[in-house]
Amino acid sequence: MNALHTFKTINYTKLTNSGTFTFAAPSNIALVKYWGKKQNQIPANPSLSFTLKNCKTITKLQYQPKAEKNISFDLLFEGQVKESFRPKIQKYFERIQDLCPYILDYHFKIDTQNTFPHSSGIASSASGMAALSATIIALEKLVNPNQTEAFYLQKASLLARLGSGSACRSIKGNIVVWGETDSIENSSDFFGVTFPYEVNNIFNNYQDTILLVDKGEKQVSSTVGHDLMHNHPFAERRFKQAHENIQQLKDILKTGNLTEFIALVESEALTLHAMMMTSTPYFILMKPNTLEIINEIWKFRESTKIPVCFTLDAGANVHVLYPEKYKISVTEFITNTLAKHCQNNQFIHDEMGNGAENVS
Ligand code: DP6
Repeated sequence: MNALHTFKTINYTKLTNSGTFTFAAPSNIALVKYWGKKQNQIPANPSLSFTLKNCKTITKLQYQPKAEKNISFDLLFEGQVKESFRPKIQKYFERIQDLCPYILDYHFKIDTQNTFPHSSGIASSASGMAALSATIIALEKLVNPNQTEAFYLQKASLLARLGSGSACRSIKGNIVVWGETDSIENSSDFFGVTFPYEVNNIFNNYQDTILLVDKGEKQVSSTVGHDLMHNHPFAERRFKQAHENIQQLKDILKTGNLTEFIALVESEALTLHAMMMTSTPYFILMKPNTLEIINEIWKFRESTKIPVCFTLDAGANVHVLYPEKYKISVTEFITNTLAKHCQNNQFIHDEMGNGAENVS
């Protein structure tokens, strides 16, 4: 836990004026999945993701100095009071107060909105917790300006992780690794690091079209799902496999071998869901249309030789991944063949992006 100690802000000044920061942070899509965690949001295995660009949360943080020291905030979603989000944010502040004791000196008004449709089934916790953490670090820069930019970035990712694990991969772009693993230098369980090796041009602006198969509330939350990896009969082998897959993906990202890329990415997605199906209790988050879409993608890939593949997060939606140069033909395929398997024919085009940004 020594490493954590270095992130604790001990000396800081209390601001006398109120102020505002606004940050936008994107979602991210994991290729090697985080599924299973230990105490304090430490991942059971390393994960690797592409940061996205269009699916973002925009968070405005207003801070106002106050006399007493405590956690105090108002929470708005799209300008309206949102009580249902409060417990998650309260817990976040409780988890970060030791590292960021200055937060106790302010009352916060947090106003947040997403660029993607409300209740689209797209997890907003990654983008949401990354955006909020970016605003907190902006405040930290004011109260304690003596650190390096690298420190602030790492700490922003670390705070985001305490809000939601996958959020730590949304602070930076455009390929991020979280979780200590031998094949990635300086990788850490505490924060995400930008993938530090050569990446083939084929991955530039890699496309991710998100097919909205089911916009309903998930029957099993990620938090519960992670928990079911304790005492899971296949957990240890799975955690080991994630290390192996990151090592392999490191080479694939360099060579640009899309046949290998597709095999690894689709296997990761199905393994994630296989873990769900073999938990006790077991559960299934895929829907019939998820499988329809997967089969259509396999047929299309076979007949056209276009290297398009899918991945899944903890839900029924399908992420369709492909190189930018196939955008026109894949969009046509999605519109003509896949959209009918989506709720209200809805899908969202996204692509690799650069992480959180100040939009104040
Ligand atoms: C399947 O980050 O949402 O999307 O840490 O409990 O907030 P918490 O979980 P969360 O889990 C995401 C799981 C995943 C895979 C991934 O993004 O790596």
